[in-house]
Amino acid sequence: VNDINSIVQEAHQAIQQTEDLASLDHLRVKYLGKKGALTNLLKNLSTLDPSERPQYGQQVNQAKQQLQQSIQQQQSILEEAHLQSQLSQETLDVTLPGRGQSLGNLHPITQIRTQVESFFSQLGFSIADGPEVEDDYHNFEALNIPANHPARDMQDTFYLENGLLLRTHTSPVQIRVMQQQEPPLRILAPGRVYRCDDIDPTHSPMFNQVEGLLVDEDINFAHLKGILEAFVRFFFAEEIQVRFRPSFFPFTEPSAELDVLINGRWMEILGCGMVHPNVLENVNIDSEKYTGFAFGMGFDRLAMARFGIDDLRLFFESDLRFLGQF
Ligand code: PHE
Repeated sequence: VNDINSIVQEAHQAIQQTEDLASLDHLRVKYLGKKGALTNLLKNLSTLDPSERPQYGQQVNQAKQQLQQSIQQQQSILEEAHLQSQLSQETLDVTLPGRGQSLGNLHPITQIRTQVESFFSQLGFSIADGPEVEDDYHNFEALNIPANHPARDMQDTFYLENGLLLRTHTSPVQIRVMQQQEPPLRILAPGRVYRCDDIDPTHSPMFNQVEGLLVDEDINFAHLKGILEAFVRFFFAEEIQVRFRPSFFPFTEPSAELDVLINGRWMEILGCGMVHPNVLENVNIDSEKYTGFAFGMGFDRLAMARFGIDDLRLFFESDLRFLGQF
């Protein structure tokens, strides 16, 4: 009996001193396990007088129960302490500054489009729209580009079934507008265009253009030059160098291309010219009474020049690490 008491006392003390669940479990095995101190005592039973055996057994079992209880108590104390320390470690510091919400920004091409639109709308141009899937008539025929005309080679075309195609330029919008509206006309038609060009840093099968068209009485090449030069000075810089280079488009006569001097290099940004009389006649506008000019400008080129980007494809890859910089 003394053995039992001293074991229980010793175990009690040890249990109350444990600081973690692992060592508590260790004690449980040490005292209550199969080879534990109390279990061992039961082996003494055989050495006892049979009359003493029941009482002894009872005492050992009581001792076991006591220890089990005190282990359980200590276990809940330790668990509670563990929980408290976790809670205090994981407290939120509500006074920390927030992570913030990153604001989106307009796609660089959209930014350029908005600027172009704002300049021309101040001059009375309104925005017009047309389909990206076009027919041969609007994309070529009505623009004075007959079938088998070598000028078709200038624009490698994606042909669809049933005679339709992806528009190769925004010029078909000129035709659609003039079919529906009478002069005087001032329209600006931004949009996507498609050509099966080679793909390289400055060419993509899809790119963005903006078409401008002005038709009225007494419009001449000086108006074209004046407006386009004013645009370029607005868009780039007041002192930028501009040159008009003679060129050819079937739907304008005379035709020109406009280059700007950027970082010592001439960069072509648009094609333009006086609307060809055949085009006006195709849409039943009297070419004796009305004249006009048109231009087609590459947005992507403008964006490359403005932002100093030398690979056009970056604009179309939707990589936010790139697009977020503008
Ligand atoms: N449509 C021509 C092109 O894509 C550009 C252009 C438009 C030229 C209007 C003259 C007048 O190359």
